[in-house]
Amino acid sequence: MTGPNDPSTGPSVVIAGVGRFGDLHARVWAEAGARIAGLVDPDADRLAEVGRTHRVARTGTDLAALLGQVRADIVVIASDEASHAELAMTALTTGSHVFVEKPLALSAADAWRIADIAQAHQRQVVVGHISRFTDQMTRMRARVERGAVGRLCALRLRRDFSRAWFLSFGDRVDPVWESCVHDIDLAISFAGTRVRRVMAMRSGAAGDAAPSVVTALLEFDSGVIATVESAWLVPFSAPGTLDDGPLDLDGAIVGEAEVLGLDGMLKQRLVSDALVEWTKAGVQVPDLSLWPEEDGAVGGALRREVRYSLAVCTGRGRPDLMPLEQACWGVEAAEAIIESLRTGAPVEPARR
Ligand SMILES: NC(=O)c1ccc[n+]([C@@H]2O[C@H](COP(=O)([O-])OP(=O)(O)OC[C@H]3O[C@@H](n4cnc5c(N)ncnc54)[C@H](O)[C@@H]3O)[C@@H](O)[C@H]2O)c1
Repeated sequence: MTGPNDPSTGPSVVIAGVGRFGDLHARVWAEAGARIAGLVDPDADRLAEVGRTHRVARTGTDLAALLGQVRADIVVIASDEASHAELAMTALTTGSHVFVEKPLALSAADAWRIADIAQAHQRQVVVGHISRFTDQMTRMRARVERGAVGRLCALRLRRDFSRAWFLSFGDRVDPVWESCVHDIDLAISFAGTRVRRVMAMRSGAAGDAAPSVVTALLEFDSGVIATVESAWLVPFSAPGTLDDGPLDLDGAIVGEAEVLGLDGMLKQRLVSDALVEWTKAGVQVPDLSLWPEEDGAVGGALRREVRYSLAVCTGRGRPDLMPLEQACWGVEAAEAIIESLRTGAPVEPARR
């Protein structure tokens, strides 16, 4: 067992989906003081393995059935993207708060349905848009809010992933839902308004072999424009950024964010190259911002995100850093981008 997971204390958490990221979530929620009361996954072998790692006896292949036996203050959803909406609705209707990995849902209709159910049951929903929680983004938002760049005009956001990831799991949903959703959300967190229009293009040269090569242009109600670019084409030869980390996924994330205002600009590397390692394992540029291990525990943005979510779900914190409404705006924009990719035309996200 990697976290404390003391059976006598802490809010009870059930994790739905115990693949790579669900396993890491179990560790980080336990390290934050939660009690991991149950695990759910249709893959029985995986369930048994992760149950042993975290010493969780109550496991099942169906969330609704397990929630009939185990009380969960919070359900943490880290399953395949297509199952998020249904699992969130199940958890909320049985009285649990929800932490759900990105994307919240694969349609705006489902996203708003989740928001309605949360409100009806007076439950919290926090969406795992982890990039909001990095040190750099926290500082950049604070600088923008204090007027350091003057009136905000434009955002440029780029995020590239390893080609190997696309080949192994990147095509289970449109990559817009996997990589672009991070940057759509960051754009919303800076612009603070809804997206009124999008235009998007996918590389015809890459074709079906790599439908992840996408550029989208977003226009916000405030007039701010944002470019969101994503390509899962980082080659095997690139320095790894995650290879030695606590997530069981080797490869690289390379990204940049720029905030442009009338009086200034802020620029950030998503994964800093401040530390470069040349060892027998090859060249690595280890990520120190998303989920680095610090003093035997997981730190960085993931720890901050989980602690924030725990505080929101236990009534000790306000849901101000990741409002559910803004996550719904992000799903509206992602859905419109996919429609623009399909039609080749500008699309105005559907609003309700
Ligand atoms: N925030 C981040 O930086 C970040 C990083 C990695 C993954 N993620 C997100 O975490 C989620 C999981 O990703 P992953 O890489 O761990 O995937 P994964 O394929 O390793 O694991 C997904 C698990 O969910 C299980 N599952 C499928 N349907 C289910 C259901 N109905 N109920 C319960 N379990 C179910 C699968 O059997 C599998 O074990 C995805 O939404 C992904 O986008 C986010």
